[in-house]
Amino acid sequence: MADPSRRSFIKTISGSTLALCCGSTGLSVLLNSCTSIKYIQPIIKNNKITVSINEFAENKFVVVNTEQLPSSIYLNKINDSSYSALLMLCTHKNCSVNPTGSFLTCPCHGSQFSNKGKVLRGPAEERLTEYQVLINEKQITIDLNQAIKL
Ligand code: FES
Repeated sequence: MADPSRRSFIKTISGSTLALCCGSTGLSVLLNSCTSIKYIQPIIKNNKITVSINEFAENKFVVVNTEQLPSSIYLNKINDSSYSALLMLCTHKNCSVNPTGSFLTCPCHGSQFSNKGKVLRGPAEERLTEYQVLINEKQITIDLNQAIKL
């Protein structure tokens, strides 16, 4: 039979290890689910939205809120010279889609879109509406006059 002090030591160690494992797993899930979304309230001039390039120093995408459109715009950095601006309105039955990591998902019937607007999962059949984007070294301009339907 094992020494009672040894048994109690093993119990303490295994309990601590279990707590540490559960704690680190829980922390990992918590951190993944706490990915923050940056929202921007832009000024719109001549039907164009301008966003500072600095918004992408720590963000891969931002959500641009505007009352001028039926939904917000998901502005996604593809690389330093390429961005996509997608209307966050599901093409199935016009629910607002949500950014979830590098995808956009529709809470109404489960459609899923890539961060470039392509349908990954239905029932939506058409890609998200995309707006033309102009880039210079300081800012990104979304031209609301130039909706692209690919
Ligand atoms: S409205 Fe988006 S899946 Fe139906």
